[in-house]
Amino acid sequence: MPTDRPLRAVAGERAVDVGAAVDADRLRTDVSYRALVRDEFTVVTAENALKMGPLRPAPSTYDFADADAIVNFARAHEMPVRGHTLVWHNQTPTWFQSWDYTDDQLRRFLREHVQTVVGRYRRSVGTWDVVNEAVDDDGSMRETVWYDAMGEEYLDRAFEWAAEVNPDADRYYNDYGADAVNEKSDAVYDLLGRLLDRGVPVDGVGLQLHALGDWPDPDSIAENVRRFQDLGLDVQITEMDVAFPAGEVPHDAAERQADYYREVVETCLDTGVETLVTWGVRDGDTWLRAFRDFPERFSGDPLLFDDRGQRKPAYDAVRDVLST
Ligand code: XIL
Repeated sequence: MPTDRPLRAVAGERAVDVGAAVDADRLRTDVSYRALVRDEFTVVTAENALKMGPLRPAPSTYDFADADAIVNFARAHEMPVRGHTLVWHNQTPTWFQSWDYTDDQLRRFLREHVQTVVGRYRRSVGTWDVVNEAVDDDGSMRETVWYDAMGEEYLDRAFEWAAEVNPDADRYYNDYGADAVNEKSDAVYDLLGRLLDRGVPVDGVGLQLHALGDWPDPDSIAENVRRFQDLGLDVQITEMDVAFPAGEVPHDAAERQADYYREVVETCLDTGVETLVTWGVRDGDTWLRAFRDFPERFSGDPLLFDDRGQRKPAYDAVRDVLST
């Protein structure tokens, strides 16, 4: 039966987490944003604040202000935090580009970074996306600064360093385009298999699920989730948003989007995926609108709340699936 109760209450009863990526400045300055996050979601991800670039304004300094703001908000409202992300090729510090490092210096820098950040949030961040997007679109290992300096071993070390400082946290490998069974998820599957064979302390896989124009087939998502689970890994949906290609927005876009969200949540319930995070709160907050060529690429309304913070059909769909 349809309900008027907030998503947070419905998800809580179902013992699943429904979350959103959040921005520190909006939490500070926008009262209605803060209220929505608090009342509607059970878990938050820091959209940018825990990434290396924002955290490292200069080689030997950290700026924890935004990350602390998010973590403190979450603690005040009893929401777990997904820590995103310790090792990534994007959003590295700007000074990085002109730093003439040796491989060994880079390795020591990464170790110090991982251990400092995980250590600071030992009591407040229980889940980490330790490594983000290590596999390239064609399934090869992405050639990043980390890979160039350390080879595939950078993943092993990053997971180990994180585990040394906080053995109790859950450690995820996170990626995009690996949601359904396809060439890329095959490569991610193989990578995770190698990590597990080497005894690397990885607990789960985050499937980002940016459904941007091309919406992964739910049956194939289910098959993919199950094969990762069969490796002994937990699976979460970590960055969901659902958009149409620009110029192809149907008249019933909101309903079609709702149907897709519904099918994905049903898939989660069927397969035992217990966490689904949307990449933002209101449509007006979506990262897609910040793309330079955004209006030519996507419809800009991928989330559960509209620009004014009103619940959309997608919201009702998610809540209805969880309340039945
Ligand atoms: C995005 C943020 O939403 C933007 O604000 C930022 O400018 C770039 O990064 N995959 C990820 C996320 O793992 O960290 C990205 O977040 C979106 C794609």
